[in-house]
Amino acid sequence: MHILVTGGAGFIGSNLVHFLLEHRSDCRLTVLDSLTYAGCRQNLARWEGDPRFRFVEGSITDPQAVDLAMQGARTCLHLAAETHVDRSIHDGAQFIATNVGGTQVLLDGARRHKLERFVLVSTDEVYGSIPEGSFRETDPLCPSSPYSASKAGADLLALAHHHTYGTPVLITRCTNNFGPYQYPEKLIPFFLSQAMQDHELPVYGDGLQVRDWIDVEDHCEALLQVLEKGSPGEIYNVGAGHEVTNLEITHTMLDLLGKPKSLVRHVQDRPGHDRRYSVDTTRLRALGWKPRHEFRETLERTVDWYRRNQAWWEDLRRKREEYQKFYEQQYAGRLGG
Ligand code: NAD
Ligand code: DAU
Repeated sequence: MHILVTGGAGFIGSNLVHFLLEHRSDCRLTVLDSLTYAGCRQNLARWEGDPRFRFVEGSITDPQAVDLAMQGARTCLHLAAETHVDRSIHDGAQFIATNVGGTQVLLDGARRHKLERFVLVSTDEVYGSIPEGSFRETDPLCPSSPYSASKAGADLLALAHHHTYGTPVLITRCTNNFGPYQYPEKLIPFFLSQAMQDHELPVYGDGLQVRDWIDVEDHCEALLQVLEKGSPGEIYNVGAGHEVTNLEITHTMLDLLGKPKSLVRHVQDRPGHDRRYSVDTTRLRALGWKPRHEFRETLERTVDWYRRNQAWWEDLRRKREEYQKFYEQQYAGRLGG
């Protein structure tokens, strides 16, 4: 089994590479990643030199790089994307170029190379917010942010390629992931790094927004399940069903670190902020998947990982701070922190 993983140097991508190479001895991987601010080749350092692993530095928007990366691959797990909602609110152009334009280039490549399966890693955010109940795969898309709109564009484009050309596309729509190697601009790693330095935690609005958190390894297992057992043309929601408010998760992190709740600072809300995400995962569970990890145990392990890997996140935080300075000048400080 030779799989192309796009975005393999990012958070979920690097966890996926570890998961596949550790659990599947017959597996060969090519990673295609352009190493944006969110990509970190060091995340994959332990596989350099392994004959089962190949790294291609290049963009999914570049057909030549895509051709090179697809050589020998039979399937693709497509994760490469611009992923941070706040950045998309400041400037959506790169989100459209990468998430929609890049997906178009990959889908064309999948046809040229006659890939047997193409899994597009979409997101639960394409459905928009839901006050109660859970979205099913047949529900209409109603994205709220430029990020989620660009993901919805990619998602629909992939389904159109299945419909028009018969490309064996499968779509996953997952909830919020957490675990090691997550870039310290997303809620959990950002707040952990702030609290460890006794800096304030900027909670948007009242902090009562609800997210469903899943251990990144459970997501990786779901992707493998969909790749191997899913039906082409089908969509699969992925989620652990562990819904908590941002304020609750923030307080739990502070408790685990032994830091005071007085570090919480309520700041201006994210524009267009989705209140609650929730997905029905019956279809994926019918393939035999279920989450293995408990929320509290994963949070403890994640806190421990960020404690032990301070050099890793300090380096990345410097890049985040440069970005924040640049945008604060232009947008009068809408980024938290
Ligand atoms: P991330 O931001 O940590 O990593 C993205 C990776 O894509 C980086 O390595 C980056 O260098 C690479 N990349 C960006 N533009 C590229 C380009 N033009 N060509 C090649 N590589 C490029 O993202 P993540 O959180 O790991 O998310 C991975 C995927 O999963 C994304 O498609 C995202 O929409 C989706 N997703 C994420 C979550 C979550 O909670 N993080 C939940 C559901 C779905
Ligand atoms: O639901 C899946 C999505 O989850 C993925 O598709 C996205 O790529 C991923 O970034 C994530 O999006 P969110 O917007 O939910 O994640 P984020 O970590 O940015 O924010 C989580 C919640 O915490 C959200 O309600 C906003 C809030 N928040 C976030 C930050 C960074 C704060 O209150 N303060 C902050 O500083």
